[in-house]
Amino acid sequence: MSKIIKSIRGMHDLLPDDSHRWQSFEAIVRQLMAGYGYKEIRMPLVESTDLFCRSIGEVTDIVEKEMYTFEDRNGDRLSLRPEGTASCVRAGIQHGLLYNQVQRLWYSGPMFRHERPQKGRYRQFHQFGVEAYGIDTPDIDAELILIGTRLWKQLGLKGLRLELNTLGSNQARAEYKQILIDYLNQHKELLDEDSVRRLETNPLRILDSKNPAMKELLDNAPVLMDHLDDESRQQFDKLTASLDATGVEYTLNPRLVRGLDYYCKTVFEWVTDELGAQGTICAGGRYDGLVEQLGGKATPAIGFALGVERILALLESQQEKQIETIDAYLVLLGDASELRGLQLAEDIREKISDITMIAHCGGGSMKSQMKKADKSGAKMALILGEDELSNEQVTVKYLREKKEQITVKFSDLNKFLTESK
Ligand code: HAM
Repeated sequence: MSKIIKSIRGMHDLLPDDSHRWQSFEAIVRQLMAGYGYKEIRMPLVESTDLFCRSIGEVTDIVEKEMYTFEDRNGDRLSLRPEGTASCVRAGIQHGLLYNQVQRLWYSGPMFRHERPQKGRYRQFHQFGVEAYGIDTPDIDAELILIGTRLWKQLGLKGLRLELNTLGSNQARAEYKQILIDYLNQHKELLDEDSVRRLETNPLRILDSKNPAMKELLDNAPVLMDHLDDESRQQFDKLTASLDATGVEYTLNPRLVRGLDYYCKTVFEWVTDELGAQGTICAGGRYDGLVEQLGGKATPAIGFALGVERILALLESQQEKQIETIDAYLVLLGDASELRGLQLAEDIREKISDITMIAHCGGGSMKSQMKKADKSGAKMALILGEDELSNEQVTVKYLREKKEQITVKFSDLNKFLTESK
């Protein structure tokens, strides 16, 4: 026998018993975005590698270690997208969507990062992202946070904590960076190997370290909040006032810096303690400089993205497992019934657009077909054998409820099925 080929490590199939959970999540998101006036954008999965180097940053984990990068047959360096923001900005500039106008956009789809796979961390994962362009005032920051908050409510997710910080303007951050470097240099012997390297490349990311041995050092480090420029401080104060006014709870986390280079001013994350190490389920912030950095006209921008696998894992742990139900399973006994059954099934589908019905295929005895009907999860079996056929009716057998079986005339079947939905 030849060797079985399996899916790539960290990249998973979505199996039939789980797909309905994704579909209901997607339906909620679609409706929510329409409700806030956001439009969907779809970008390619593959982009020029340069796009991600220039946006996410050369010395970030994603670009340094996690991208799926390859040369195509023309010798062009391409990468599978590790996130959606860079592509969204690229598309916005390319199609003239950003200059001098407001855009409210969303996207969803697979992203690729070569990380060490574990629960909640995959090499192909899915994001749902929201991006708003052309508004530099913090009312849009508040709008995005309210969208996230409403989404958790509509999904029925509980126990999420919103963490909030501001990274200030580029200049304020550059000044703070030097203050932080000076402080960390004075305590260099306490830094782990990764942080010593980051001291040269990306010192702010050291604040994000989870190494318990460095906790005290980082707890005592100077905080960016104390070195903010006036504009960023005022904007942040307005944002927190809007959140207070709309009853959104948040925690200020001065060590929240994010792992991508394009952020400035507001940054935020929704976290949970219920998913172990991969507790960040949604994250984002302002990236006012990115459009210009990628060749467009200076355009304020802010957005967030959530990890769909993490959201659904959390939902599953918090809710009772919901089984997708099939309304009816059509059991067909004999050639003549199969033919009549086919017509009947098509007529039912024509008249009742939202019915979920499986018409048995492949023949077999009553016993084997009833077994399949039961396994399908259907609420009832509609049995069409020789007797039923000559009487122009089906026998209805309830599969999940203790109810007597009944017969229903073909002419009454649509009415009966509509009423039993
Ligand atoms: P990010 O923090 O890199 O931000 O990713 C956003 C979310 O994607 C994370 O909070 C997490 O839920 C999920 N995620 C990330 N990596 C993985 C993985 N390997 N496996 C499973 N889930 C994962 C961004 O990507 C930014 N583009 C967000 C943004 C949009 N900022 C502004 N606009």
